[in-house]
Amino acid sequence: MRPWYGVAPVLDSVPLPESTLLGGQASVSYNYSEEPHRVFQQMANNIGISNTQRFVEGRRLFHTSFVDGKHSESPDINPVFTAHANQLGPRFNNVSCIGCHALNGRSVAPVPGQRLDTMAVEVAASSSPSGVTPDATYGLNVQQRAQEAGAPDYSVSVQAYETTVRALPDGETVELQKPVYAFKGPVPAQYSIRQAPQVIGLGLLEAIDETTILNLADPEDSNGDGIRGVPNWVVNPETGSRHLGRFGWKASKATLRQQAADALLKDIGVTSPVYKSLACQRGSPDCNATAGATAISETELQRLDAYLALLGVPAQRSLRSGYMDGIRVSPEHDVDPALIQRGGALFAQVRCVSCHTAQLTTGANHPFAELRNQTLRPYTDLLLHDMGPGLADTLPQGQAGASMWRTAPLWGVGSLRFVQGGVQNVRYLHDGRARTLMEAIAWHGGEASTSRGLFEALSKADRDAVLAFLESL
Ligand code: HEC
Ligand code: HEC
Repeated sequence: MRPWYGVAPVLDSVPLPESTLLGGQASVSYNYSEEPHRVFQQMANNIGISNTQRFVEGRRLFHTSFVDGKHSESPDINPVFTAHANQLGPRFNNVSCIGCHALNGRSVAPVPGQRLDTMAVEVAASSSPSGVTPDATYGLNVQQRAQEAGAPDYSVSVQAYETTVRALPDGETVELQKPVYAFKGPVPAQYSIRQAPQVIGLGLLEAIDETTILNLADPEDSNGDGIRGVPNWVVNPETGSRHLGRFGWKASKATLRQQAADALLKDIGVTSPVYKSLACQRGSPDCNATAGATAISETELQRLDAYLALLGVPAQRSLRSGYMDGIRVSPEHDVDPALIQRGGALFAQVRCVSCHTAQLTTGANHPFAELRNQTLRPYTDLLLHDMGPGLADTLPQGQAGASMWRTAPLWGVGSLRFVQGGVQNVRYLHDGRARTLMEAIAWHGGEASTSRGLFEALSKADRDAVLAFLESL
């Protein structure tokens, strides 16, 4: 099975050219159904038959409510997953994975005054590269909702947006908004507010060898290009060994297993073989010592891990299917290949690729053969970069200082408008502040200042070509 697209006049299937395969052979073929909002939910195109069972079993858990065991899709038809009813913790943010990663996409766009319960509020009393002191009230993150009616309300919301206007050299202006937060409970000494990112292609990112990523790092800027790139280092909570961080906006998790267990504990209040006790939420070092049976079993954690690992990446929408004149072309296929190609070249020319790495190859060792030796176009180096004070929060994580962020993978950014239900619902950057790609780029400071300046100095037509390229990813 090769990722394919349809060619006119009868949409005969033709293998997609290599250049469009953002996720290698795990890329997802062009979509011709009426359901473009489901493009992030597809299995890797090259998935092995025996792994499809693991995928769907993990998928079921991702969609299960830990309140009543119901599936998020057709809850009255799909059987109840009774093993997971009543497993929700006393405090939580949401009741299922899919509750935040809706359709495997992003958090709901924040509305001022509304509780941010599809986002994460990570907190600490203090932190250093060697450890974190949890907040006295909240622990390691604010669990905004509680089961018990009389429990304190710890909602966090956007109180308002501060707006500024940035003028580009040719006079075009971009409005930038920055959220100001309100806490119902005590304001923590350090905090970081994050939107849920799309979950696609994560197994491919996990399958890149550490050395491949470390070769891109330049912590002392020895080549003098102003771009450093620093790895984050993460301790495996089960073994104590140190690994390269890859997941989360500050690369604070090394594996999908760790990320899933962290979400279960902190977002849903559910224990697993990684975090066996809810006391781990408060950072207690021996939190696993006294645990009994955990809410989800080793087998189930492995299924969740397999599901995340085997989610494909939509192929780049840079080709027309050659519909004949007069036939309605759906927005996802209505693309301008020449413009996109020019935009891609300009994206490299203005040095976006010095962080958003255009090509990486996965190693030969991932447990899933589907993910090995794949040529990817993830547009990330998985390294941390200082993005300047404008994007800084107050919570360092490991090597990631307050203003440092993992280069966001850009694959999938052009599909967000379909998955989130319209361009008006799409938000970019770690806290979901940016309403447009233009606004997201305009926030780039620190190490990215030169690149942003080069982009802003392009003609309007050239900037639009870069944006068209991003929308094709
Ligand atoms: C309350 C909302 C919420 C819930 C519930 C939630 N997540 Fe997330 N998820 C997030 C946020 C926010 C991040 C970014 C975290 C960070 O920056 O460290 C994230 C990140 C991730 C990532 C890393 C993606 C990347 O690109 O690095 C994975 C994988 C993931 N979540 C899986 C899960 C799974 C599996 C579950 C269910 C067990 C789950 N999430 C439940 C909000 C949520
Ligand atoms: C110095 C490294 C660096 C350079 C150079 C850079 N970026 Fe980024 N980019 C990042 C990081 C880090 C983030 C995540 C920042 C955050 O979430 O606060 C990001 C985020 C983005 C996002 C938002 C992605 C999302 O998932 O919401 C877009 C779009 C983007 N960059 C486009 C560009 C373009 C276009 C250029 C070139 C003009 C560029 N970037 C240059 C590091 C860089």
